[in-house]
Amino acid sequence: MNDLTGKTAIVTGGAGGIGSATARAFAAAGAQVAVVDLDGEAAQAVADAIVADGGRALAIEADVSDEAAVTALVDRVQVELGGIDVLFNNAGIIRRTTATELDADTWDLVMAVNVRSIFLLCKYVVPVMAAAGGGSIVNTGSGWGLKGGGRALSYCASKGAVVNMTRALAIDHGPQGIRVNSINPGDVDTGMLPDEARQLGQDPAEFLAESVDRPLGRMGQPEEIAAAVVWLASDAASYVTGAALVADGGGIA
Ligand code: NAI
Repeated sequence: MNDLTGKTAIVTGGAGGIGSATARAFAAAGAQVAVVDLDGEAAQAVADAIVADGGRALAIEADVSDEAAVTALVDRVQVELGGIDVLFNNAGIIRRTTATELDADTWDLVMAVNVRSIFLLCKYVVPVMAAAGGGSIVNTGSGWGLKGGGRALSYCASKGAVVNMTRALAIDHGPQGIRVNSINPGDVDTGMLPDEARQLGQDPAEFLAESVDRPLGRMGQPEEIAAAVVWLASDAASYVTGAALVADGGGIA
């Protein structure tokens, strides 16, 4: 049921931990994948690995908060891979500050990468999906988009927006056959966590050790998030839309 044979998928932040695992999982489920990332070389490496495994993939270097870059990538995917059936809006950044420590430009940057990018991708991909009779969009929120977290004001604001804009998109575009859901991970073993440790001036090993304080007793692996995203993207989740799926080892409970 978790089958994406014949579908074309866009993965933003496709060179990162969760994005690359999901790009590979999409390909393993039969999709051809556009791997989109600010880091073009790393995106190319992910696409090359998919092709080496017998799949079809295209690497695109783009800043997904930039409207011209988004229109160009949406056009390119249609020309080179055919329509767009699945959109995984996953690119994201975190800045670990309170309101008083945060400067306005950093607030704007976090909101641009984490929120504006999803608006822009949806603005240009929804008409493509609607013309084809439907599609599936998955947006990466966060456990902190549902419950908040410390010293991450702009991130928490942005991820709360992701969860609620997902519901708004689901309401607006359900009649066009488009399902829209958010995946909300807890701590996942990617480059983001050591980056947070550095921002907080903490030892990365100590920071990671704190991430296991949850019922399942460990942090998540990117492949475990990817598996949930493949399900949401596929027809196996055909009656699921507007949902905020949590995959966090029980950390929210
Ligand atoms: P990561 O840092 O490994 O991947 C993020 C990717 O996004 C990077 O490859 C980066 O180059 C790309 N990116 C950043 N700005 C971009 C832009 N303007 N345009 C295009 N690409 C851009 O981090 P990870 O963990 O894989 O994060 C993926 C998503 O998961 C993010 O939205 C993050 O907020 C979310 N998340 C991660 C959690 C974790 O514990 N790792 C927990 C909850 C949510």
